[in-house]
Formats: sequence, structure tokens, C-alpha cells
Amino acid sequence: MKLAADGDFGEWISVGGNLFYPGYIIKGKERHLMIDAGINMMGPAYLASLKKIFGDQNALDFVFATHSHFDHLGSIPYLKRKLPHLQAGAAGRVGSLMKKQSVLELMSALSELQRRSFQNIAGDEDVHIEAVNFEIHLKEGDRFDLGGATCEVYEVPGHTGDSLAFYIPEIRALFPGEACGIPEGDKDGHVQVEFLSSYDDYVASLEKIIRLQPKLICMGHMWVFTDDDATVFLQRSLEATPRYRELIETYLNAANGDIDSAVQSMAKKEYDEKGTIAQPRESYLENLKAQVRQVALISVR
Ligand SMILES: [Fe+2]
Repeated sequence: MKLAADGDFGEWISVGGNLFYPGYIIKGKERHLMIDAGINMMGPAYLASLKKIFGDQNALDFVFATHSHFDHLGSIPYLKRKLPHLQAGAAGRVGSLMKKQSVLELMSALSELQRRSFQNIAGDEDVHIEAVNFEIHLKEGDRFDLGGATCEVYEVPGHTGDSLAFYIPEIRALFPGEACGIPEGDKDGHVQVEFLSSYDDYVASLEKIIRLQPKLICMGHMWVFTDDDATVFLQRSLEATPRYRELIETYLNAANGDIDSAVQSMAKKEYDEKGTIAQPRESYLENLKAQVRQVALISVR
């Protein structure tokens, strides 16, 4: 099934925050972990979810980020201010990025673009993004025993260089961030492809994820796939990836290899005219530019 990322999934997983920015809470018998904490203005919503789920927001031990995008870890500074014992984990590079002033400023600016939609959640709370310490540097093969459920760490670069997927083998649940794309719009079967840092790495990571044969995929935004639909989604995502690359190639060829004009004509046709992509236009354009650059690199090598 393809289900909205909301409520509980079995005894181990509850969704905090909201559909757009789910923070997946793994309720181990001994320790509790949240996977991803979306844009900064969602911070108070995650705290409210923790209170609702555990009766006490301090029950959360760890927050892990799937990758270094502002809409997956923007609330971590807020959560760490509110929960001083909370330990944050991500790929090593994320820890350094989250101390760089230029990165923090960019994240704050991107978040502000969405303020209107999330002001009612942020209220008067101080949700500013500041330099934050990631105590745990996660890498391939790490395992965290939460009590009855284990969180395994897989490196899945391609969407970003620092992308990680988390897997709970006891229930075959996967948290891929955006390493295997995003279901696009409401139509079944369309996948928004997301190879922002490397096409080849992205395909290899997708194949690695498929080999895990997850039965539950908790997507970075909006959706949870279960059972056969999890398998079908991954297969569709793998098939959509070279198709998307070819589509970009046609725009690049028509623009004689000029990246900016290929991006402009593709955004006009694929985003404006089709109108099926839910992502904000600014984010779509940023992602598209990165992907057109990747495809341009492939064609010259
Ligand atoms: Fe992302």
C-alpha cells in the first residue's frame, strides 16, 4: 500500500511533525530515535509529537539526519536547544557543514521562503538555525541497538554526497531520505528522480537499497510504502532514473550544451506547463540545475 506518512506504523514507528516533513520516531524498548527533523519552523511540531507519543519530550535520545538538506535537519538546532541531552547523528561531512556560517545562512534563507506555510507552527518560538554539534559521525555498517529494534546505517550517496539510509532489519523498515527519489504528484507510478551529486552513485545506491528488500519504506516526505508497493516503487524509481537522464540530455542537446538555457526550457515545459510537481519552484530549479550539471558532466567524459 501507499499510505500517508501519519500516525503509527506497527508498534515500533510513529510519525512526528507532519506529512510534508515527517520525523520518524523509532520507539525502541530502551532508546528512542528520530530520523530527520525537517525545516526549522517545524521544531515545535516535533516537540508536540514527542509529548503526545511518550508523555515527555525528553524521552528522545537520538536524532539522525539522512542528509545535509535544510528540509531534513533544519529543526535539529531547535531540538538540541530544547533537549540538551539529545545526541545528533549524521554522515561526518554534515557535522562540518552545520558549523559553516555560509551553509547556515543558505539554510535559513531557504526556510524563510516557506515561512508563510509554517508560521502557525513556529508561533513565537525561537527556531533560528545555528551552528550545532553532531556528536555521532555515522558511517556504513554502524548499528545502534535501541532495544528490540536495531538501526543499521548504509551510505547511499548520489542525492547528496553525504546521504545515508537507515534500516531496521527486525521489521525490514527503510528510511532512505531522498536516496531513491520521491513519488511525484498524486499519480501513481511517477517518480521524481534526485541525483543531485552523482548519477552513477545514485544508481548504485538505489541498487544497494533494492538488495535490502524492504517491506516498509518511510519516504523523506509524504508517503510510506508497504509490502509489494515498496518493491514496485523501488523498481519504478530505478527505471525512471535513466529515463530522466535521457530527458535532460534532450534539453541539453537542444540548448547546444548550455546548462542554464537547458534548465530554463526544461522548467518551463516540465514544471510550469505540466503543473504536476508539488515541490516549490525555487527548490525544483535548484535540484534541476544540479542534475543538468551531472548529466552535462557524463556527456563530456
Ligand atoms: Fe534532499
